[in-house]
This record gives sequence, structure tokens and C-alpha cells, in this order.
Amino acid sequence: MTDFQNVINTIYNNLKSATDKGIVADYIPELAKQKKESFGIYLKHINGNNYHVGDWDKPFSIQSISKVLALSKAIAFEDKKIWERVDVEPSGDPFNHLSLLEHENGIPRNPLINAGAIVVADILVSRLNNPKQDFLNYVRDISGDQTINYNLKVAKSEKLTGYNNYAAANLLKAYNNLNNDVEVVLDFYFHQCALEMNCSQIANAFYMFSNRGKCINNVAHITLSQVKRINAIMLTCGFYDEAGEFAFEVGLPGKSGVGGGIVALLPDDFVIVTWSPGLNPKGNSLIGMQALEQFTTKTNRSIF
Ligand code: DON
Repeated sequence: MTDFQNVINTIYNNLKSATDKGIVADYIPELAKQKKESFGIYLKHINGNNYHVGDWDKPFSIQSISKVLALSKAIAFEDKKIWERVDVEPSGDPFNHLSLLEHENGIPRNPLINAGAIVVADILVSRLNNPKQDFLNYVRDISGDQTINYNLKVAKSEKLTGYNNYAAANLLKAYNNLNNDVEVVLDFYFHQCALEMNCSQIANAFYMFSNRGKCINNVAHITLSQVKRINAIMLTCGFYDEAGEFAFEVGLPGKSGVGGGIVALLPDDFVIVTWSPGLNPKGNSLIGMQALEQFTTKTNRSIF
């Protein structure tokens, strides 16, 4: 039996005092306030055991990690129809590049780059009666945690500086791939990205992707076939132009956010979440990626 607590303690101690911790995102001014020294790891095993170390219980901005949760809700509504509006190919370019939309005639390359996530947000705005509250309730339900909330300061901060996302949404509108108003869709998207959760809450929310579509309270939200597709998209697109590197080093489907969080999972086995706000030049947590590489190497666990 692997001693998971010992493994994550060792990784934590290996990396806690690393001299290069990357650079905290500052294009969303509110995120620039994060402390580079924060570092936490949380592991949730499918057998019910949990292991944690460091700042695993401190809430942070989940940012692009939310794109997977939004995608799961949109797929639950639309199933295969969603793929008429967004593709499933890796990008090989940064998450905010408009070329990934313009070169594809208005069909974003995948649902995890910003343009694709904005199409997913448009679907949820159309489908949900009270989009922001209903989506928040969905995240609370799949996590089994009613205390989760949006950080309104972060949502506002991103809106004030969100020129790139406004450009993407306007391009989508021009290509007839946005049914609702740009303002309404982006307001939803900025709130979605501003969800504030700690490592354990994210692990609980992503449990259903390792548990055949059934959430922490054993309710089926998506089918096993839908889980397969979402995990495949995380593997091929979850780290943008570093998806190859993440698959190579870590070997798990996962998703990063510019708040410094990374979630990764092994179906039928575990979910692991790391948080370290300093990013590498591709916008992924520098220490988080190293921690996950050490985890799958030390435990011999990966999808490969
Ligand atoms: O739209 C944005 O730029 C942010 N709300 C999310 C970007 C993000 O987290 C990219 N991930 N690494």
C-alpha cells in the first residue's frame, strides 16, 4: 500500500523552499495580491481517504479550472450538440489567442481556451433560468458544499481589464456563434472564473470525473461516456500550449487556472489538487506541475 500522506509530505518539503516559484498573474489586478509562498496539496482517494498538506484549506480563485465544471453542465444539457459550436483539438497556442477562433471560422479550437469557454458560457446563459445563481448551485451540489461562492472583487477586476475576452466574444458574435449579448455572457464567464474554492473543495467537485459521473453525494450528473470525453479534453487541452508537457511529465488529465491551482485525476482511483500561485511562462503553476510530476513518478500512477 502506498503511504500517500508520506508521499505528499515529501513533495511538499522538496518544493516548499524552491527558489524559483514563478510569477503571480497580474493581468487580473486582484490576483496580483496573492502570496507566492502559498502552497498546498490535497489528495482525495476514491476509497474515501483524504490526505493533505500545507495551504490546502485556503480559498483561492479557481479561474480556468471552472471551465471544466461549466463544460460538464453544458454537456449534461446538450450532449453531442455542443460539438457543433466548439471543436476538441489541442491548441498549441496560449489560452487567449484569437487566432484559435479566427482561423477556425468562429468555431473555437476547444472548450478550455477562453474563446471556447465563452461559447460554453453562452450555452449556460441560454439554458439556466438564473445563470449565475444556478451555476453556483450546481458547483455547490457536485462538491457537497453549500459555502462555495464567487469572489465579486475578482469578477469585477477581470471585467475592468478583460479586453481580450471582449474581443473574443465580439468575434464569436460576428461569426454567429454567440446567441446572447456579449455583456451578459462575459458577466457570467467572469463570475464563473471568479469562483473561490480551496484544494479540498476542488477535489470534491472533480470527484465525479474520477467516479464515472457520480458526484460526492453519489448522484449521477453526467454519463460515463461524457466523463470519457471530458477527461480526454482535459488531457489534450487542459494546459493549453503546455498540454503535451503535462501529459509527458504527469500523465493524467487535468486543468490549471491562473490563480495557481491545478487539478488532475486518475479515473477510478483519485483526484489531486495543488495550489501555488506563481506561474510559468505558459500560465500554469510552476511548483504545481513539479509537485504532480513527483507524485505520479513516486507512486507509479498515471493513465499510461
Ligand atoms: O479569461 C481569463 O483570462 C481568466 N478568467 C482565466 C484564464 C486562465 O485561468 C488560464 N489558465 N491557466
